[in-house]
Amino acid sequence: MSGTFLIYGANGYTGELITRYAVERGMKPILAGRNAIAVEALAKKHQLDFRVFPLDENTAIDNALRNVDAVMHCAGPFSLTSRPMVEACLRNKKHYTDITGEIAVFEAMARLDGRAKESGVMVMPGVGFDVVPSDCLARNLKDRLPDANRLSLAFYGMGRLSHGTQATMTMNVGQGGAIRKDGKITRVPAAWKTREIDFGEVKKTGVTIPWGDVATAYYSTGIPNIEVYTVVPASNLKMLKASRYLGWLMATKPFQKYLQKQIPPGGPSDEERAKGKTMLWGAAEDVNGNRVEARMTAPEGYTTTALTALNIMQKILDGNFQPGFQTPAKAYGADLILEIPGVGREPA
Ligand SMILES: NC(=O)c1ccc[n+]([C@@H]2O[C@H](COP(=O)([O-])OP(=O)(O)OC[C@H]3O[C@@H](n4cnc5c(N)ncnc54)[C@H](OP(=O)(O)O)[C@@H]3O)[C@@H](O)[C@H]2O)c1
Repeated sequence: MSGTFLIYGANGYTGELITRYAVERGMKPILAGRNAIAVEALAKKHQLDFRVFPLDENTAIDNALRNVDAVMHCAGPFSLTSRPMVEACLRNKKHYTDITGEIAVFEAMARLDGRAKESGVMVMPGVGFDVVPSDCLARNLKDRLPDANRLSLAFYGMGRLSHGTQATMTMNVGQGGAIRKDGKITRVPAAWKTREIDFGEVKKTGVTIPWGDVATAYYSTGIPNIEVYTVVPASNLKMLKASRYLGWLMATKPFQKYLQKQIPPGGPSDEERAKGKTMLWGAAEDVNGNRVEARMTAPEGYTTTALTALNIMQKILDGNFQPGFQTPAKAYGADLILEIPGVGREPA
């Protein structure tokens, strides 16, 4: 293997962060995106090679992928951007990773399993904070309770959200919530359920959200009933509940245009990331009432994203991959997350 990968959307907040961390590790990704000025400036700053192409030109994508082994797709919302890139990866027999957290994207990628196997490449969406830590937690619970049929996961402490995260969340407002029920993704109202969650250091009220694990934890564990919770300020909880009734309005084109324009660029500063911390909790139960629980602490969300995405990419470049659609914990096991400095799991 030549050991080269391409970061698409490298000039975005998370793409730029991943680029910086990659360079610090001595990796030499090829930077790419559609914005020639921004991509070239970033590449020059880090003395890296770069490619400029939009996602609606197959020939340009194919040319850009010619000399790489794998792609790290960082340009979201992925429901708008992932298809052309993953198709190009399958055509050109290149591994595909991204940092999506969108359920519909995970499900679309899962349907590519057969084609990815035929091409001999791994398709692994969700190599960031969503879903690596929670996917590993889910897998840990399943390993400890093999007959589990119910899984609850929660996370807390995402801190300030980046432009792209807010843009993606805003785009999906009005779609309500989602859980997995009897193996099927099932729509539920926004903020469908709340419950008290003991994160160890703090107890908080969690609210159900349509987080990526609703899709991925099923592939990682086979557990057919999955709910994911997060902690939001009381005012946001009210807004989430209001979106049950006003979501249709927020989803209209003019409203979306307005909302998207209000989102500031960038994301948390280095200082904010250094101070940040995330907490996760999970529980699995079987039909006989047996129950296991686990807690985890991890670095701030965008820091975790950069670290997990690069650890997974390094494995791929080292030839440690499984062809087909994969989730992080399915391919690399529950302890994958323990490779990240600052991560703790209880019980270990
Ligand atoms: N899973 C996780 O834990 C995790 C963590 C971080 C981020 N994310 C997700 O990653 C995505 C990026 O977040 P961010 O904050 O880094 O975003 P950002 O700062 O807004 O940057 C977005 C990047 O994507 C590019 N882009 C957007 N739409 C495109 C399109 N149609 N064609 C080509 N390029 C396109 C942008 O290019 P231009 O500059 O040319 O517009 C830019 O390079 C979001 O969907 C976010 O939710 C997930």
